[in-house]
Amino acid sequence: MFTDRVLSGMRPTGRMHLGHYHGALKNWVRLQESYDCFYFVADWHALTTHYETPEGIADSAFEMIVDWLAAGIDPKQSTVFVQSMVLEHAELSLLLGMTTPVAWLERVPTYKDQQQKLVDRDLSMYGFLGYPVMMSADILIYRANMVPVGEDQIPHLELTREIARRFNHLYGREPKFEEKAQAAIKKLGGKKSKRYEELRNAFQERGDETALEAAKELLETTQNLSHGDRERLFGYLEGARRIILVEPKPLLTETPKVPGTDGQKMSKSYGNAIMMREPPEALTKKIRTMQTDPARARRSDAGNPERCPVWPLHQIYSNQETRDWVTKGCTTAGIGCLDCKQPVIEAIIAEQAPIIERAQRYLDDPVLVRNILVDGCDRARKAATETMRDVREAMGLSYDRSIG
Ligand code: TRP
Ligand code: SF4
Repeated sequence: MFTDRVLSGMRPTGRMHLGHYHGALKNWVRLQESYDCFYFVADWHALTTHYETPEGIADSAFEMIVDWLAAGIDPKQSTVFVQSMVLEHAELSLLLGMTTPVAWLERVPTYKDQQQKLVDRDLSMYGFLGYPVMMSADILIYRANMVPVGEDQIPHLELTREIARRFNHLYGREPKFEEKAQAAIKKLGGKKSKRYEELRNAFQERGDETALEAAKELLETTQNLSHGDRERLFGYLEGARRIILVEPKPLLTETPKVPGTDGQKMSKSYGNAIMMREPPEALTKKIRTMQTDPARARRSDAGNPERCPVWPLHQIYSNQETRDWVTKGCTTAGIGCLDCKQPVIEAIIAEQAPIIERAQRYLDDPVLVRNILVDGCDRARKAATETMRDVREAMGLSYDRSIG
């Protein structure tokens, strides 16, 4: 049966901070309840920009995965793996490169942006230019239809959709497609066959998008359809091609922005990050010395939470009552900044306590992490292999048929 599949990845940046936690990980944990989720370490992606400093990739990956698991990613529910341990990603990336115009890649906004921003390194490399193709392969190889990403990754996802569309257009052609599709319709069974044809006609004759969605839904909820027939019936709705690679949709979830201790975007490289599992003493110190509204130079000066980096933390961690207390106390100089910060400190400590506890198992026994990855990679490879079988065949590369 067709299930919604979620895929997302992160570059191996080591220990995670609260920005990662609230911006991505909490959402990943939530998604695993409802969907078949694949989460991976994008270690090849790290090399597209840091090819001169490969040392530390594996350690960073380990630290990052410990934090994923500590955050609540459950390896029984989700497939957790490392990109470079599933070589099929490289194969699909290579093959997609055959049909991806260089101009599409030069047009990706991050291409020129990053080259200008990261002035300390030479990014005029083939791998850097091709990085969005690799990302497309990461997604398409699992036929993932939902990809939780940040705003900055939307152009990459749009490119992925274009690459998939072009692939299906070029390679989804099949001799006797029409007849095979008709045969597949019959296999749906009386009522469903009729409904499928009605919906298909409604879309093809009147461009009725709701009918198209309804037809897709019908296919998604139909069991015992072979993979090939499913591809044909999806493709037949919109044209006369099989859908070999599935166009993914971005999953843009409203996530709170977590400022760093200086009010800028939280980032390890800015030295303003509050880490996950930060020990209570260190955490308390970081928050107590955190910048506040500059208008409150003295305790007796009134301030405005809107101008204070502590305020977004209250929006994440405090209830309405506490927030009202902050607004009133701040604007009337009724409370001091240290009073104001105390509930935030306590809330973060409480939030991180179970996370610290979950992490300890893995830190005590790193073999557990290794086993999770070996298992995750096996599961990922299995799914990837299925897609690659279709891809190779569609691209004229299935030798077992002509030789064996
Ligand atoms: N490009 C993403 C980043 O730099 C990481 C990434 C690689 C990714 N492949 C992906 C994210 C596939 C989602 C899906 O953050
Ligand atoms: Fe910021 Fe709170 Fe101080 Fe106001 S009282 S400036 S919100 S820390």
